[in-house]
Amino acid sequence: MNKPSPFQRVKTAPVLGVGLGIDVFDTRPDFRKLIKQQRTGFDFLEVYTRGNWRDVRQLFAQIPADVPRTYHHEGLDPVGPHICPDDPIEGCIQNQRLLQPPWTVEELAVRHIDGRYTDFFFPAILSTDSLKASVDNINALHARLDGPLLPENAPYEFVVGDMHLCEFLTELSHRADCGLVLDLGHLWSYQLCVGRGDDVLHGIDKLDLTRVIELHLAGARVEKYSGGRIYRDLHGAGPIPPQSLLLLRELLPKLPNLKAVTIEVEDATEQRALDQCQQVRDEVRKHQPQWLAEKS
Ligand SMILES: [Fe+2]
Repeated sequence: MNKPSPFQRVKTAPVLGVGLGIDVFDTRPDFRKLIKQQRTGFDFLEVYTRGNWRDVRQLFAQIPADVPRTYHHEGLDPVGPHICPDDPIEGCIQNQRLLQPPWTVEELAVRHIDGRYTDFFFPAILSTDSLKASVDNINALHARLDGPLLPENAPYEFVVGDMHLCEFLTELSHRADCGLVLDLGHLWSYQLCVGRGDDVLHGIDKLDLTRVIELHLAGARVEKYSGGRIYRDLHGAGPIPPQSLLLLRELLPKLPNLKAVTIEVEDATEQRALDQCQQVRDEVRKHQPQWLAEKS
């Protein structure tokens, strides 16, 4: 029998609900306090390690087995011209084996140049050549990793290429036969770059919504400059923008394979993380009440 494709694997995963994206190295919020004192305040954790796989074993051991989790890796640079070096792939395999997540999130961005980390997301170039290289990379990664990847649309501060982001995501998910994370703030960042900041749903008809397995929301601010506006992720250090919440309300009823909604809360106090989770849970209950009922 053929091995199920990455998309088939995530499509049959359980609904996780509304969870928090936390960095295991952060003390704000402290995931241990959230688990110990506020376990009912979130359904699952999305675990970030800043791409680290050498110093995480003890930290992962502090996440009890009964806390559902997903894993957010960093360092595979899947939209680069070539496959990344072996180290981050081996690191991803190790962290997947330790955490046993149903899927692993990776940004559609390049964050390393010639082996050096750049504290910037070079987002996918939206062209057919870039799409082909990205599909080749993701297929090569899937041939080596244990668990399926969910590529995530990265934040845009500038756009190169003439393909619409939603078309790029659809083509990528079909050709690599994988699911997607749709980061709603990052989608708005793209709209701002292409002069559609006031029309956040522009071009959404080009996105195959059946491929969206997870949504991301995060605090952000928008900076004005002479050429327009730029979206900046603040994660837990700021409020979730109304544009992201509008996208959430519009899209929730249209995502048949949605399994998880993650609020990225690095830099938040524990209370703020829980408040943002409650805010999003309220939206979900109001606009797609049966979805949370599916949670196992
Ligand atoms: Fe995200």
